[in-house]
This record gives sequence, structure tokens and C-alpha cells, in this order.
Amino acid sequence: MRPDIRFLLGDEERSLRNIDPQMTVLDYLRLEERKSGTKEGCAEGDCGACTVIIGEPNGDEGMAYRTVNACIQFVPTLDGKQLLTVEHLKSKDGSLHPVQQAMVETHGSQCGFCTPGFVMSLYQLWLDGGEEDRGAINDALAGNLCRCTGYGPIIEAARNAGGVAANDTAEQKRRTDLAIRLTNMVKDGGTLAVEHAAGRYYAPRTSDELAALLVSHPDATVLAGGTDVGLWVTKMLKRLDPIIYIGDVADLKSVSETETSVTIGAGVTYSRAHDALGRVAADVGELVRRIGSRQIRNAGTVGGNIANGSPIGDMPPALIALGAKIVLRMGDVTRDVPLEEFFVSYGKQDRMPGEFVQSVIVPKPASGMTFKAYKISKRFDQDITAVLGAFAIRVADGKVAEFRAAFGGMAGTPMRAKKCEAALIGQDWNEASLSAAQLALASDFAPMTDMRASKEYRMLVAQNLLTKLFIETSAPDIATRLVGKEAALV
Ligand SMILES: Cc1cc2nc3c(=O)[nH]c(=O)nc-3n(C[C@H](O)[C@H](O)[C@H](O)COP(=O)(O)OP(=O)(O)OC[C@H]3O[C@@H](n4cnc5c(N)ncnc54)[C@H](O)[C@@H]3O)c2cc1C
Ligand code: FES
Ligand code: FES
Repeated sequence: MRPDIRFLLGDEERSLRNIDPQMTVLDYLRLEERKSGTKEGCAEGDCGACTVIIGEPNGDEGMAYRTVNACIQFVPTLDGKQLLTVEHLKSKDGSLHPVQQAMVETHGSQCGFCTPGFVMSLYQLWLDGGEEDRGAINDALAGNLCRCTGYGPIIEAARNAGGVAANDTAEQKRRTDLAIRLTNMVKDGGTLAVEHAAGRYYAPRTSDELAALLVSHPDATVLAGGTDVGLWVTKMLKRLDPIIYIGDVADLKSVSETETSVTIGAGVTYSRAHDALGRVAADVGELVRRIGSRQIRNAGTVGGNIANGSPIGDMPPALIALGAKIVLRMGDVTRDVPLEEFFVSYGKQDRMPGEFVQSVIVPKPASGMTFKAYKISKRFDQDITAVLGAFAIRVADGKVAEFRAAFGGMAGTPMRAKKCEAALIGQDWNEASLSAAQLALASDFAPMTDMRASKEYRMLVAQNLLTKLFIETSAPDIATRLVGKEAALV
């Protein structure tokens, strides 16, 4: 075991001992390094003022860079990685980086509080080769909020900033050398073990080490992307001891695909799972694209979304409708659980102390099956769901041959609507059976009222989502999606 956290801050090596493992990267930068360019707005991953870039070795490409919210990442998660902040864009001769120059030229900043965060999101686009497509720019910037400039000039800056040329051999060599340097920095130690008076933190490198650690510490908090757990610390002021981080477990980071299914390891971020899940069904990909922001998707995992058991997590209803299962592991023993059986009741999942989610297996819809998922939230981007409906339906000879419907936001757990399903299966797919299914939904669920939606709104929306499914499956030429309208505005 290795006690010190090793990473690069820009080009400078850091080796930290005696640091509270729950210190956020944002606090570390501002309070320990006195680098105050990175700002704190919300401290909950929402505003993007704290956006930084994490670089890590990534096989052939040399380095993979991703934006994250420094306010909800803990310092030990930097181990073996490079941390880049707005200060690292400063050049020796004082000239501005192209993304900064573009912001100046388009007047992309007024009070400037949000600006370092935006600049880091723009820098990420620049590192990825630049972007001119409005939709892709929106996606990259949706997690950065500005309350005075307005987004037009900033989007313009993104379009104008350019990016690293694909054939820039000097940049490629720089990334390869960096990846080797980072790999060498941490290759001697196995599990990182920070044992501080304020709490312990372990970061195993293999799932065997992870399984053994969790058997020794069955009450540990498992940390994946930290986009839920980070807020327990910054907003609920919890002390977590010990924390076991799965983000460095190499064999939990793979995505594998066959003709019939996709398997996502528990350490895979949404950003990395996106393409494969999009191949399961377009609406699963679209659902992933609308989870949080780019920064959240670059850290958060599908496994974390399942393990936290939230009734409004976006992935579970879709995965339940698809018939997904999860693989749980404790010690050397693994077991498969159909996802719909994992959620026992509000706040209770079928997971024993010491057990962890190893992977999720998502079947692709069989031939003839249509899959649709609809997320209803107050804002289109970067918002938590009020109601989510997901449907897998096969219509043969005008009759509903198969139908699975699952909802989020309608009960204490993500859940199938079995009475609604029964009302449709074997019936003609028409307005009469649609009405019967909508009526049945009212006996499947008794939703609650909270700050996101009233119980009446939730029920009406859920029933209307069935109408949307009916229109999209029986009259596909009718425009039903906001994405299309949004595209028309560009
Ligand atoms: C600004 C913001 C926006 C968000 N937007 C959305 C959204 O649009 N839709 C949505 O569904 N969610 C959203 N979330 C919530 C969050 O991003 C997701 O729930 C995410 O999937 C959590 O994954 P994680 O890897 O960050 O989990 P963590 O925060 O690391 O962990 C979450 C929980 O799962 C447990 N856990 C994690 N991995 C495992 C494992 N392998 N085995 C056992 N237990 C495990 C942890 O102990 C913890 O209880 C948002 C969060 C923020 C901060
Ligand atoms: S401070 Fe708002 S996202 Fe981090
Ligand atoms: S420039 Fe003031 S918040 Fe964006």
C-alpha cells in the first residue's frame, strides 16, 4: 500500500501526505495552492464556476482529458493524473491562449465570475481539436452558467477558438511523454491508502483488491464519480470513513459489446458509456446526453446511478424497461440480479454490506421491439427528473405482442407499471387500449408531491407519455421532440 497521493499540477509533481481525504480539489486549489482562478459558486456541481481539467493516460491516444467540477471531487482521486486549471493557460510571454483570445474578441465576459469555468470548458474543446457545431458546443457548455454576459458571445468564442490540429506531432509527443511520466509516478505501489486522523481512503487497482478491501470494511462508502457522494460532504457536511474509491480499478473500466447486449463496468463514466448505450437504442443515448452536464457525465457512472437507489435516477427506468441485470460481487462470489428486483423499497436496495456493483448488462432490444424513453424536467439541460417513462414495445399485426413500461419519479423506487402493461398486452394498439392503459397507470402508482412536481402533475404527465409513445409508434412523421424544435432555432 502507498500512503502518498501523487499527481501533476500542470507540469509540477505533487506528493501529498497528511491531507484530509475528503478535502475537495477546489478547496485544495484555493486554500493550499493559493490558486484562486478556479471559483466556487454552488459547491454542488451545478454552476461550472469550478471547472478544471483532469488528464490521464489513455492507451494509444496518450492522454485523455475531461472537464470535471472541482467542488465535488476529492483530492485523492487525482492520484496518477494531471490537474489543469485556468492558471495553466498563462504563457511565459503573457500572450493569451486562443480560447481566452476568442473570449476577449467576442466580449464573452462581463463580471467574470463564471469566466474561468467557461474558459476551461472551451479549453477542453480546444484540446479535442475544436468545435463549430452548435449542438456540440451547447453540450460542452451546458454545465457552465453565466448570469450576466449571456451565452451568445461565449458560444461564438467557442466557434472561433479553433483547436489542436489532428496532425500536430509535437502535441502528440507531449501527450505520450506525459502519459509515460504519469504511469511511472504511481507504478510502484498498488492500492493508495490514505490514513488520516480525519478519515481513511483506499483506492485499489484491481477488483480482487477492491473485493478484499470491502470484505474488511463492509461499512465503507464506495466512491465512484462522486457526483452524489461529493454533495454528502459539501452540502450535508457528512464525514465518511473509510472511503473506497473504485475509479482506479482498471478491470471495472471496460465497456464490452456483443450483438445482443452491452456490458458496462461500474467504473465507466457516462461519457465513456454514451456511444455503446446509444447503440442499444437511440433514446438511451439521448437520455445519457441529458444527464447533468458534460462535467457530471465525465465523472458520474451508470453503476453509481443504480447503486444510489434514487427514485429519480435517470438510468434505472430505461434499463428496467430493457430488462437489464446487474452483477454484484462480495469477496469471490458474484451474483446476477434483474435490475427491477434490486430496488427493494425507498432507500433500500438488494446489496449486502461488503458487496459492490461490478457491472450492468444491458440487452439490446430484440428485432421488432421499439424502445422509447422520455425525461420530463423543468429545464431541458442540466436538471433533475420530475417523471421519466421508458417503454419497450413490440406490435405485431396491429396488436401489442410485448410491452414493458418503467417509470421514475412515480414511486419510492424506479418501478415497472405492471397493471398498465397488462392492460395493453394482447390488445389492439389503438386509442381505446391507450385509454385503458392510462387508466391502469393510476392504479400502478400513487405519486407524491415535492418541490419538482405535484402528484397530480406527475400522474398526468406519466399518462401523457403513453400518448406520446402511441403517436411515435403509430404516426412517426408527427414531430414530438424538443430536440427537433431546438435544432430549428440554430
Ligand atoms: C449537478 C448534478 C446533476 C445531476 N444530474 C443528474 C441527472 O440528470 N440524472 C440523474 O440520474 N442523476 C443526476 N445526478 C446525480 C448523479 O450524477 C448520478 O446519480 C450519478 O450516476 C452518480 O454516479 P457516481 O459515479 O458519481 O456515484 P457516486 O456519487 O460515487 O456514488 C453514488 C452512490 O452509489 C454508491 N456506489 C457507487 N458505485 C458503486 C458500486 N460500484 N458498488 C456499490 N455502490 C456504489 C455510492 O456509495 C453512493 O451511495 C446529478 C448530480 C449532480 C451533482
Ligand atoms: S462551484 Fe458550482 S459547479 Fe462547482
Ligand atoms: S460574466 Fe458574470 S456571471 Fe458570467
